[in-house]
Amino acid sequence: MKFFIDTANLAQIKEANDLGILDGVTTNPSLMAKEGIKGTEAINNHYKTICELVDGDISAEVLSVTFEEIIAEGKKLADIHPNIIVKVPMIKDGVKAIKWFTDNGIKTNCTLVFSAGQAILAAKAGAKYVSPFIGRIDDSGWDGTELISQIAHIYSIQGFETEILAASIRNPNHIIKCAELGADVCTCPLDSILGLLKHPLTDIGLSKFLEDAKKM
Ligand code: G3P
Repeated sequence: MKFFIDTANLAQIKEANDLGILDGVTTNPSLMAKEGIKGTEAINNHYKTICELVDGDISAEVLSVTFEEIIAEGKKLADIHPNIIVKVPMIKDGVKAIKWFTDNGIKTNCTLVFSAGQAILAAKAGAKYVSPFIGRIDDSGWDGTELISQIAHIYSIQGFETEILAASIRNPNHIIKCAELGADVCTCPLDSILGLLKHPLTDIGLSKFLEDAKKM
């Protein structure tokens, strides 16, 4: 399973990249706004900086919702760097645009996916990634990881090549469940990635080893 970090924060991206386990980055308009990135030039420069920091797929989301505008915006985003993946919302014009991008050699990440039906459409249109938002499904009283399992089953028996990019990860257990259920990628906040490191027995064991090492 690939690890992406879900942030536009450069310090966090650097920290995750320095761990040596980072395969890419996902962003969205909310994450960009949180970093105070405003205006097309600043947004595009920020994507360029992320692409120069991390050698992997970098999702950049379109803000348009009509076919022609999504295509125009997506082409500009794809021109920023060869590693840019154009992130397109799961709406009718979005599906149509994903098919157009696929036919024209531009890779896409279909975002805001909350059902197996939407994931089938994303795969049929040729999206490189489909992003089910598991934390937001949990927030609404359902089980987000069940959707990962259902999509993984469907993609496997149908031979779809679209990769399942589990998004809206809220904790380390989400990452473990996604790995168990066959997600191809998990895009996580830094805290959830670092949470995987933690176990009290590791801390206790290490402090005992270091104490005993003084007697060696
Ligand atoms: O990038 C999309 C997704 O990961 C959003 O997560 O925490 O806002 O539901 P969240």
